[in-house]
Amino acid sequence: MPEYDQFEEEEFTTQFNGRVLARMMGQVRPYWTWAVGFMVLIALCTVGDSSFTYLSKRVIDEGILAGDRAQLNRLLVAYGALAAVQAVTVFGFIYLAGVLGERVDYDIRRKLFNHLQELSFSYFDKTPVGWIMARVTSDAGRIAELVTWGLVDVTWSVLSVVTSMVFMMSIDWRLALLVLAIVPAMVVIAIWFRKRILIQFREVRKINSKITGAYNESITGVRVVKALVREEQNLREFGEQSSELYRAAFRAAWLSALFLPIVQIIGALGLGAIVWYGGLQARIGGITIGGIQAFVSYVTFMLWPIQDLARVYAEMQRSVASAERVFSLMDAQPDVVDREGAAAVGNIRGGISFEHVGFYYEEGEDILTDFDLHVQQGERVALVGPTGGGKSTIVNLLCRFYEPTSGVVRIGGQDYTELTQHAVQSRIGMVLQTPHLFSGAIRENIRYGRLDATDDEVEEAGRIAHAHEFIVEMEKGYEEDVGEGGALLSVGQKQLISLARAVLADPDILIMDEATSSVDTLTEARIQQGMEAVMRGRTSFVIAHRLSTIRNADRILVIEGGRITEMGTHKELIRARGHYHSLYTQQFRRKLEHEYDVLQGGRLEPVSA
Ligand SMILES: Nc1ncnc2c1ncn2[C@@H]1O[C@H](COP(=O)(O)OP(=O)(O)O)[C@@H](O)[C@H]1O
Ligand SMILES: [Mg+2]
Repeated sequence: MPEYDQFEEEEFTTQFNGRVLARMMGQVRPYWTWAVGFMVLIALCTVGDSSFTYLSKRVIDEGILAGDRAQLNRLLVAYGALAAVQAVTVFGFIYLAGVLGERVDYDIRRKLFNHLQELSFSYFDKTPVGWIMARVTSDAGRIAELVTWGLVDVTWSVLSVVTSMVFMMSIDWRLALLVLAIVPAMVVIAIWFRKRILIQFREVRKINSKITGAYNESITGVRVVKALVREEQNLREFGEQSSELYRAAFRAAWLSALFLPIVQIIGALGLGAIVWYGGLQARIGGITIGGIQAFVSYVTFMLWPIQDLARVYAEMQRSVASAERVFSLMDAQPDVVDREGAAAVGNIRGGISFEHVGFYYEEGEDILTDFDLHVQQGERVALVGPTGGGKSTIVNLLCRFYEPTSGVVRIGGQDYTELTQHAVQSRIGMVLQTPHLFSGAIRENIRYGRLDATDDEVEEAGRIAHAHEFIVEMEKGYEEDVGEGGALLSVGQKQLISLARAVLADPDILIMDEATSSVDTLTEARIQQGMEAVMRGRTSFVIAHRLSTIRNADRILVIEGGRITEMGTHKELIRARGHYHSLYTQQFRRKLEHEYDVLQGGRLEPVSA
């Protein structure tokens, strides 16, 4: 589907984006003291590392070569003290970074969660749930990782190189400058290689998914392939893609294999230069043996962070791409927002009217045009008609999940956009075709309708909705766990619980959108009893296919193509012999056939093929 393309991972730039990086770092701001804390500790650590090498130099020069036993002992004591300090600082920064990461991860997830609650239905229409889940589960974590472990890595690498350089400078500045010359070269080469390798691997992945797609299509469409004798062409295409994959994989492997040896060769050249130059200098007394040894250690020691910088860079790119996706979700604006100065409390009791309402989901595809409907307080309205006629759209507009693109909806005479969404939605109860329960006890699921309800009120609601009977038959009664999404209950049972929930909420307006469509006739009868009780005294809208559910409505509307094509009571519409009449007679006939069937104790032969 073309509109989902924007959610393809590849679509987001993997180019380095400084603005996004800055915004990622902004997530650390509330905890900046911790971040500064661990960076200071890392700085101490790298100084400690460099000092070890420096101490070794002095051990060689002043202790071993000079044969000074007292100095050797003093240096060893310093060595031990340094090791102890080092242990504490390492512990400190790993602990701080870990805690910081958890906080940031939690903050981002919480922000996303809050934001998701505010987004309008239209956003969820266009955005696959899987895409959103991936943002919350994996991308949020990657941001947290970058702003902590990424920061640790970068600080560590940079400071290691810097402190090593400073120590080298203090030992022999000319030799240090020589080393300094190879560092930038190493950094450039390392980053260049990483980039090429990344690009190659991305290429491999792309071709791979193309092949998987082709596989999938020709297997699922195997009949068509055979019927049209397309095997040979498919085979040829498959062969071409496979060799393309082979070439890309070969290049990727070649590059990754080349990377380490090249770094090592450059490192070895550097070491060679040090030993050669140092050897010459040592003979004329320019540098000590311990000094040369220290340089060799420093350079070996520097190779690792430099190589590692390249890995960190690659990870940073990935995290920035993750962050871009997370921020695009955070920045999504709800379509339905409260107007400036909207009233938080309104008179929801009173009639409801749709006046010249126009609406579309996608521009240019009008669902409703100039739609008019007036419903009185306490009236029971039923909507029937073919699938896609616009029934759900009408009630969604009433709930203000979407807003009319033209015209107004009035509740109690007032344009409902003058009220907050909460003022309207808190007074509307909705029971849908697929009731949604949250994992937890039945009691809590009913209480979701009104959080401050007492246990007695919950059970009273259960009774009114005719749910009490089945609940008390369960092993733990109201404490029974419904499982994730209510998976441990039947659809009918879930429906009764969501009815009880609606009763508890005590709404002024009640909407039931195909509440009985997915249950058998026996359960339907029970739900219907519950519905009758719940609708009493409330303005209600019932959408149903089974006409038995709606016969008693005050007014029945037949909705076709976004228009009201028939309107009246059951009797009036039967008399009019229109669409409703034919729907009714069809269902009635089916019912009679079914009863006949039962009486005969067998199946009816189909009337005609
Ligand atoms: N979220 C949506 N995005 C785009 N089009 C939609 C959406 N929901 C419904 N539609 C379209 O609006 C029309 C009316 O749908 P709906 O109100 O669900 O009908 P009903 O409830 O009567 O079956 C249909 O053509 C349907 O395809
Ligand atoms: Mg519908």
